[in-house]
Amino acid sequence: MTNRAAGVWGIGSYVPEKILSNFDLEKMVDTSDEWITTRTGIQERRLAAPEQATSDLAYYAADKALADAGVKAEELDLIIVATSSPDHLFPATAALLQERLGAKKAGGFDLSVACSGYIYALAVAAQFVATGLHEKVLVVGAETLSRIVNFEDRGTAILFGDGAGAMVIGPVEAGYGLMGHHLGLDGSGAELLSLPAGGSREPLSEEVLKNKRQYVDMNGKEVYKFAVNIMGDATLKVLETTGLTPEDIDLYVPHQANYRIIEASAKRFNFPMEKVLINIHKYGNVSTATIPLAIDEAYQEGRIKDGDNLLLVAFGGGLSWAASLLRWGGRPEK
Ligand code: ACO
Repeated sequence: MTNRAAGVWGIGSYVPEKILSNFDLEKMVDTSDEWITTRTGIQERRLAAPEQATSDLAYYAADKALADAGVKAEELDLIIVATSSPDHLFPATAALLQERLGAKKAGGFDLSVACSGYIYALAVAAQFVATGLHEKVLVVGAETLSRIVNFEDRGTAILFGDGAGAMVIGPVEAGYGLMGHHLGLDGSGAELLSLPAGGSREPLSEEVLKNKRQYVDMNGKEVYKFAVNIMGDATLKVLETTGLTPEDIDLYVPHQANYRIIEASAKRFNFPMEKVLINIHKYGNVSTATIPLAIDEAYQEGRIKDGDNLLLVAFGGGLSWAASLLRWGGRPEK
């Protein structure tokens, strides 16, 4: 067994064209642009076209990540799709993506830890690469949350959007890549944020549909309190694990759920807001896709250079949380 550094070889993202603005939502539920902007920081979000499902969004993001990495789909060893809105309960979205990409030799699976899923998936991918079992792992976060949100519930309808982000993870030069992780769960808060029906606990029925139990159910206030604390605690754990200080962090990459949650966790470590990646105003909460989407945008804008320390942190249903330290660069020449 080897113990190699694992890092990013390539990155890509995709958002659907259709924009749903706060002003559009004003016409659908009793809300206002002013309320949504001041309470959440969200101005608009993207909606998948009727014919698009999660694997379609995943495909576009994955295709770009493979091109950026200079890797052909046939070379992939493993595909991990982190999602809270898979095409089906089964087959895995990873299987649909494998077929569409033509990733003939890849294994794969979906990973479900709500919005913390992408960081969990990166941690899993890093282990496969570190042990030497796999060379090239595709890690995708993809969501069509618009299909599981009740657009009559103003408490949730305003928050979520659709999109996807992907990275190819492979061996990198020592001293670069995914350097440390902290993963957590607290199932005592499972009911605070869930999709109650459609699984084995509450199979779909007329009763379920009448009571709209097939949609996201959330206690926003309690999730908010949890999030503000855990984003900071998880950040601290990763700083401790990696022996870094807040001053060593070049970019803070928090899950995009609410601007106020992001601001509060950044303040705890005195991260200036210029070091914090924020795109919630454009996309809302895209669950597992927020982190790769934010990193890809920053990368395309030239905001990330080799050697930069990115601290990734997320929270979500479960309740769950996760954080990782990613030192950018060290990938082999294409
Ligand atoms: N428009 C207008 N008014 C609203 C809306 C809305 N969309 N939603 C709620 N209100 C009203 C409430 O009814 C309440 O009215 P009242 O005072 O007359 O009772 C008032 O606004 C305040 O409501 P709060 O719920 O206290 O508002 P808060 O400031 O907590 O903001 C929010 C609500 C935005 C949902 C916030 O609690 C939040 O962001 N929570 C975290 C949610 C989250 O991050 N979820 C995703 C987790 S990740 C995953 O795994 C999917």
